Amino acid sequence: MARKLQYLAILVVIGLIAALWLLWPNAMSQDEALARLPDGFAADPVQGERLFYTAGCGSCHMNEQASADKPAGLVGGKGLETPFGTFYPSNITPDETTGIGGWSETDFLNALQRGIRPDGLPYYPALPYTAYAKASAEDLLHIKAYLDEQEPVAYQAPAHALGFPANIRIGVAAFKRLLVNFEPFQADPQQSDEWNRGAYLVQALGHCGFCHTPRTPWQTEDQRRAFAGAPPLKAGEKASKNLLGVKPGTIFDALSSDAVDLFAVVSDKSAMAHVSRAYDHVPDADKQAIETYILSFGQPGQGQ
Ligand code: HEC
Ligand code: HEC
Repeated sequence: MARKLQYLAILVVIGLIAALWLLWPNAMSQDEALARLPDGFAADPVQGERLFYTAGCGSCHMNEQASADKPAGLVGGKGLETPFGTFYPSNITPDETTGIGGWSETDFLNALQRGIRPDGLPYYPALPYTAYAKASAEDLLHIKAYLDEQEPVAYQAPAHALGFPANIRIGVAAFKRLLVNFEPFQADPQQSDEWNRGAYLVQALGHCGFCHTPRTPWQTEDQRRAFAGAPPLKAGEKASKNLLGVKPGTIFDALSSDAVDLFAVVSDKSAMAHVSRAYDHVPDADKQAIETYILSFGQPGQGQ
């Protein structure tokens, strides 16, 4: 009997250690977060604006049209329907109570690169920290400088409407621990500067794979089928396109509001329309680099 109890106690301790390992937030301390910045770094809202559009923050957080119950601006609250339920992105204006006014650089980097809230609980990967983890701290703090300049607007986004077990926020910590790679972006010295710039923009900021790469049963992006096109998150919406082997120019041209408004190759109602419009703010050299990188995944004719 005593022996059995001993085994049980050992199992309980192992279980507790495993649970702690799975659920511990692993946030960056202020020193760790800021050590990644070059000496003399000064966050620049003008660069931040360009990077904000490159990273597509507005697609999820911007409410274009004010209504009786929701003000316009980066107030979130626009339902993002997924197989797990509906997420309501947060208010990211500098409002002190409902937005992110008063957040430190460390809070911001922990949210966007580690998926950790200021109180230590995890964020859902509907906020694409799986991609932003690869971004440089400089680029994200330029974005923060741009956000800090926006008008603070008081608005509390509704609580997410998720089914069980997705509604148990702490469970996301285990998903992150087991399935998310938080390694920074690695340039490939075998490739050109342009290819590496494109790789950085696509993997770290543009999160093209978030919609264009099919997902595994674990809901992570299936890198063996990178950019092969994927079903829409919301039933009834347009599937994303297979980007492998498209004609040169297709990707560059899709990254402009003309693709929606003039040529209608991107439907106004598709999730891509926000991306196309946002990329009017992104320099041509960056769009070209994105195309160069994605085209290197497959020659024309190889995609289906
Ligand atoms: C695909 C949609 C999507 C995109 C793109 C996106 N977000 Fe979010 N964001 C969300 C969702 C959903 C949440 C809420 C997550 C949660 O509650 O766990 C969120 C939460 C946040 C939060 C936490 C706010 C708080 O009060 O806790 C910040 C900060 C944030 N996003 C900033 C950004 C920035 C900056 C970008 C661009 C670099 C961005 N987001 C891009 C969907 C998105
Ligand atoms: C929020 C989801 C989403 C993101 C993020 C996204 N796309 Fe798309 N993309 C789509 C959807 C959906 C379509 C299909 C649009 C349609 O059929 O009208 C599409 C279509 C396209 C097309 C086809 C245009 C044509 O001429 O047929 C290209 C090229 C493209 N995306 C490139 C990109 C690149 C490059 C990125 C990253 C910078 C990106 N997309 C990010 C959802 C997305």
